[in-house]
Amino acid sequence: MPELGDLPEADFRRLLHEVADWIADYRAGIERRRISPALEPNAIRDSLPTAPPESAVPLDEILRDFDRLIMPGIVHWGHPAFLGYFATTTNAPGIIGEMLAAALNVSAMTWQTSPAATELEFVILDWMRQMLGLPADFRGVVYDTASVAVLHALAAAREDLGFGVRQDGLAGRAGVPQFTVYASDQAHSSIEKAAITLGLGEANVRRVPSDDEYRMDVRALQHAIAEDRRALRHPLAVVATVGTTSATSVDPVDSIADICREQKLWLHIDAAYGGAMALLEEGRYVMHGVERADSVVFNPHKWLFVPLDFSALYVRRPEKLRRVFSLVPEYLRGDAERAGEDIPNYMDYGIQLGRRFRALKAWFVIRSFGREGMAARIRETCRLARLVATWIEADARFELLAPVVMGVVCFRARTPGHDRGDGISDLRFDELNERLLARVNATGAAYLTHTRLRGRLALRIAVGNVLTTERHIAGVWELVRDQLSTVSADEPRDGLA
Ligand SMILES: Cc1ncc(COP(=O)(O)O)c(C=O)c1O
Repeated sequence: MPELGDLPEADFRRLLHEVADWIADYRAGIERRRISPALEPNAIRDSLPTAPPESAVPLDEILRDFDRLIMPGIVHWGHPAFLGYFATTTNAPGIIGEMLAAALNVSAMTWQTSPAATELEFVILDWMRQMLGLPADFRGVVYDTASVAVLHALAAAREDLGFGVRQDGLAGRAGVPQFTVYASDQAHSSIEKAAITLGLGEANVRRVPSDDEYRMDVRALQHAIAEDRRALRHPLAVVATVGTTSATSVDPVDSIADICREQKLWLHIDAAYGGAMALLEEGRYVMHGVERADSVVFNPHKWLFVPLDFSALYVRRPEKLRRVFSLVPEYLRGDAERAGEDIPNYMDYGIQLGRRFRALKAWFVIRSFGREGMAARIRETCRLARLVATWIEADARFELLAPVVMGVVCFRARTPGHDRGDGISDLRFDELNERLLARVNATGAAYLTHTRLRGRLALRIAVGNVLTTERHIAGVWELVRDQLSTVSADEPRDGLA
């Protein structure tokens, strides 16, 4: 008969101390690690048993195996030279907040299920609202990701039109029009995912062209809406992006808000990454017009130092969200009735019932850094990004591919040997940059990712980790330059295209 219950307290205490040391050592030594493992697919899986263990394995052994079997397959996102995607980061207060939330393991679905979880979420969301410069009537809810947030926003937008989709669905109904959603050609793919999930259809997301600086072209938006109306389709919502995924460009929210008002369209702002700029006096401009939005999503897990996952959706009229998602089963009726006047049962504002206590880690981070400390870190990120841009501009073998607006730099190598001036140069540059990226990442000393801008492959340097300093950025830049020399040197001149 196996032992029941949890581990003896003394063992737990000893192991927790060990793990605390492990985490502190990991953070202290992260810079010496190779960022990305040189592994073939399935290497980790093949090292694990295919069947579950029949009998208990001591935790000491599991911890040893964690180091031996799992760690070799980890990409160290917290490494100061990890500059891929949007550099999410972790930090001491965030880790401590997560550990405590794990210990509590409460569900923030109703106020009753843990008053502190709900009330802290309410307070944290209001703190963040103030930091973002959103008016007081905006109310928030925490989800895991911005992808889930846009899904909820579009569901609320659709319900707001009065076709009763919540109740009657879409399938088999005559009289429900073809809804359309508008976003720039730079907007995130989560909008299509939301359209797929909601039954709006991927093809009904209209990608509106962007201008030279990758901002939505407002005239093109007007044309697209007019064209759909002529075809008797039903424009539903516009998604404006503040900080696009590739180049962190900022759509003209104010002008888009004018159009939405005139056309009676829901305006959702995807400020998942770029909303953090609003913490800076000089960054407030990115949110101009936001007060006229119907919903805004902001991801503190991208650029506000809260560890994954934490996404905040704000809606100007919270009852519109509640109208779609509130559904109280009998066993939760008592709970639901016990919430106070102004305190939500967050289960009413989304599809999720069980909800992690995410507000706790955010509370640790915000208090530990302070608004001022967070702003200083964001400002430093922008400074470092601009600094790299000056190095790129000063080196004739490279070019910037987009203005540097926030913490991201898009660039490419453009060596003369690859420029044939015969119309296929861009293809050759793409190959060159792909190889350069692969070589840089293969060193394990830096990690960059790529995007495509106007058809051209761009490398991205995304700053944002609290551990990243000018020394790291300089090291990465030197590495990129060195690696470019090796790519250029061993490549046959006419080997491409
Ligand atoms: C602008 C933008 N919006 C939305 C998302 C989706 O974010 P999430 O991973 O939280 O769903 C991303 C992801 O990077 C993004 O860059």
